[in-house]
Amino acid sequence: MRFDVISIFPEFFAALQLSLVGKAQEKGILDIGIHNLRDFTSDIHRTVDDTPCGGGAGMVMKADIWGKAIDSILAENSGLRPVLAIPTPGGKQLKQADCHRLAKSSQVIVACGRYEGIDARVAQYYRQNSQVEVFEYSLGDYVLNGGEVAAVALIEAVARLVPGMVGNPESLTEESYSAAGLLEYPVYTRPLEFRGLAVPEVLLSGNHQKVRQWRREQALRKTAQLRPDLIRALAREQLEKDDLRQLAAAGWFLAADSEKYPHLQQIEFRPARLEEAKKLADFAAQTFPDACPPGMRPDSIASFIAENLSESCFRAYLNDETRRVLVACTDAGEIAAYSLVIIPRAAGVANIEEGAPVDFVVDGIPREGPLLYLSKLYLGKPWRGSGLCQQFLKAVLADAAAQCREWPEPYIWLGTNQTNKRAQRAYKKVGFLLSGQRVFFVGDESNKDITMVRRLNMKN
Ligand code: ADE
Repeated sequence: MRFDVISIFPEFFAALQLSLVGKAQEKGILDIGIHNLRDFTSDIHRTVDDTPCGGGAGMVMKADIWGKAIDSILAENSGLRPVLAIPTPGGKQLKQADCHRLAKSSQVIVACGRYEGIDARVAQYYRQNSQVEVFEYSLGDYVLNGGEVAAVALIEAVARLVPGMVGNPESLTEESYSAAGLLEYPVYTRPLEFRGLAVPEVLLSGNHQKVRQWRREQALRKTAQLRPDLIRALAREQLEKDDLRQLAAAGWFLAADSEKYPHLQQIEFRPARLEEAKKLADFAAQTFPDACPPGMRPDSIASFIAENLSESCFRAYLNDETRRVLVACTDAGEIAAYSLVIIPRAAGVANIEEGAPVDFVVDGIPREGPLLYLSKLYLGKPWRGSGLCQQFLKAVLADAAAQCREWPEPYIWLGTNQTNKRAQRAYKKVGFLLSGQRVFFVGDESNKDITMVRRLNMKN
């Protein structure tokens, strides 16, 4: 592979004699030619720039000089279709995938601009010429004084992907931005203790499976924190089962419906807003029927929805200080789940009339503290089995606890249809205990519910 760099500072590229890139040149794996742009001028001052057409500050590099320089390099090497790489803050941000693509070409010519940049017709001219691929790239959203640093960055990133360059090709596949699509996990070496900081124990365990798991978890955690764009871009096939558990804890969920949601979605838990009453009512009308036992009459379901889940009902809930409505919301503003918790006035029992388990014992201690009511918690169909339910429940319980901090020992209760084992399992998982039964009316149909309770201030 061959790189040709054109710059007004050829001395800058002495750095390419060092390290792997330098060795690769010695071994003949890489060939790097450095060309001084001023050698292609014909005036006594060796002028490469001129004032910008249209006015403004700074100078622009002249198209005619650049044309001569590039043509002369193209004429020397009439090999396969070369790439003309032009570093510029206005280019596409350079990605690892670009580097892999460039590593497959036989020649990359890097044109380093200075000042306000190179006359736009240079890129335009060579783009129209089918013999050359023009690639304008940027290192990132900041401005350098010229393209030289960006040229070295490109050469180093591309050259190491050329076969024969890196001793252990496995280190290429494990690192950041490679096939895994994640940032790299943290690495350590001896000494095992540095200024009071120890190497994580798992790395010294000799258990390869555990080490692999730990590294994967670290990579996921770091990526979720720093690069949500990379998490969003992960393909389903790249995700392992344990990944989903970890990502769920970080607020990312994979819906069952892979057509509508091909990628992970970031879901935020927050109090619902008054202007969301209509959206909530639509969502509630969609999800309530799924929670009803089979055989329930549609007119009973419809009358329950009309009486309890209409837009005006939600408006009233949202205006009521004793009710907390939370939503789980996608980036696109879609509701994935919602909950309604009723907080008793003073330190009483919320919704005794609905069959609250007034007297119960938890951990051998009879309840005395206030009893909140988890009146509703519904999940949209695509999110069932995604881990959202558990995470949302935890958030709802934490929010409820935050609402009654000044009360010594608050509890929370709920009722759910006795046939709905899936819901019961989910509540059990976050610490709810069976407490009794109640009768629950949907329209004029009576249903047997079981009730469950939990101390509010427990770790979950
Ligand atoms: N030239 C000046 N700024 C640059 C940047 N951010 N990336 C690439 N080339 C540049």
